[in-house]
Amino acid sequence: MTLQKISNSLEKPTFWAIPTSTLSAAELGEKTAALKQRLESIASRFSDVRFATSLAAEDMVITDAIATGRVNIQLFTLATGRLHQETLDMAQTTEKHYGISIAKAYPEDRDVQAFIDQYGMNGFYDGEAAKKACCGARKIKPLNAALLGADAWLTGQRREQSTTRVKLDFEEHDDARGIAKFNPLFDWTESDIWAYIKQKDAPIHPLHLKGYPSIGCEPCTRQVKKGEDIRAGRWWWLQSDSKECGLHANK
Ligand code: ADX
Ligand code: SF4
Repeated sequence: MTLQKISNSLEKPTFWAIPTSTLSAAELGEKTAALKQRLESIASRFSDVRFATSLAAEDMVITDAIATGRVNIQLFTLATGRLHQETLDMAQTTEKHYGISIAKAYPEDRDVQAFIDQYGMNGFYDGEAAKKACCGARKIKPLNAALLGADAWLTGQRREQSTTRVKLDFEEHDDARGIAKFNPLFDWTESDIWAYIKQKDAPIHPLHLKGYPSIGCEPCTRQVKKGEDIRAGRWWWLQSDSKECGLHANK
């Protein structure tokens, strides 16, 4: 058999692809107006509201609504030190596209060093304790610092994303930080998200075009095959009910 025949006979996986939307223009218009109203009501009730963006699709919907609606909400991203180059580039692309700035919350060098000393750079593959410690140093502590002084924060979480999010509400109380927390897209579907992005021509994270529906740190994220759960590529070596990093543990 020739090399060409062998390579043709190997099964090529088909990866997740951006869905085509089933939403009518009128339905999308209603969703968009409701989102704007949600954001404006949060900004009017609280004095210092901050939005945590990962630069993935859901967060680009919220970013677009904040920036184009000139809603008084500040943006920040958790620059964990393990993000894909595409994510770092996406932060710059977004800043330029909307003329906004996105604050970067970095981990403390000494916390990262302590993690590496104890578990090794990629120790999170070996056990839950190491994953928790890495996310603690690279995400949770920087999140706490990024929210100091805020009285409310926003996320792009949706109910449909995971079994751990089916009971998500629009408004929650973040007991850990003693402030309000909002999920303005809690009732949006994946198809709603992409309909919005296409209609508004919002920037798209390049990894969404390469089979990644959900994007986190590089060593803990991979592509998802067609038909697989949309979070199957996040911490893929773990069970689906433990695929959270603690960012959204409110207690
Ligand atoms: S995660 O907790 O498992 O990483 P996911 O990627 O689904 O979460 O994102 C859920 C929400 O958490 C995002 O919409 C965003 O608000 C916040 N988030 C996740 N990663 C980051 C990040 N690196 N920086 C800022 N916010 C983030
Ligand atoms: Fe560390 Fe992975 Fe958590 Fe990122 S997602 S902070 S690399 S364990």
